[in-house]
Amino acid sequence: MEFFLDTANLEEIEKAKEMGLIDGVTTNPSLLAKEGGDWRSQAREICQMVNGPVSLEVVATEAEEMVREARDLVQFGPNAVIKIPMTLEGIKAVNRLSEMDIPTNVTLVFSVNQALLAAKAGANYVSPFVGRLDDIGTTGMDLVYQILEVYAQYDFATQVIVASIRHPEHVLQSAQMGAHVATVPFAVLDKLASHPLTDKGLEKFLQDWKKIA
Ligand code: G3P
Repeated sequence: MEFFLDTANLEEIEKAKEMGLIDGVTTNPSLLAKEGGDWRSQAREICQMVNGPVSLEVVATEAEEMVREARDLVQFGPNAVIKIPMTLEGIKAVNRLSEMDIPTNVTLVFSVNQALLAAKAGANYVSPFVGRLDDIGTTGMDLVYQILEVYAQYDFATQVIVASIRHPEHVLQSAQMGAHVATVPFAVLDKLASHPLTDKGLEKFLQDWKKIA
């Protein structure tokens, strides 16, 4: 399973790069707005820093305008992937972008039927938002399972990015289900590495070592 970092923060990207764990980055308008400043130079810098796909989202709501924005966003780097919201206009745009060989990631996906349309339109990635489904009292990971099941039946090339990940259990289940990608916030990436027994064990090893060092 690939790990993408779900952030627009350069420091977090740098830290995750040092760990050698990052295969790509996903941003969205909220994440870029959180960083403030000039979003264009921020997005350009992220594309330069990351050796892998970087999702940059359009903010237009009509297909023609989405395609125009996408053509602008791909100038930020050869690794830019255009995030398109899951609407009928979005699907129209994905079809056009796919004909133009511009890679897409269909975002804000909350049902299997939406994921099916995205795949049929030729999206490279689809992003089910599991945390936001959990928030409304459903089980977000069930959606990932069902999308993977349907895609496997028809051999769709569209890869599933598990998004809106809130905790390590989401990552574990993504891997168990065979999701292609998990896009994780930095805080979750950090938590994946830690275990209280690892800390306790290491402390004991180091204490014992002092007796002979
Ligand atoms: O990149 C989209 C996404 O992962 C959103 O996460 O936590 O805002 O639901 P969240």
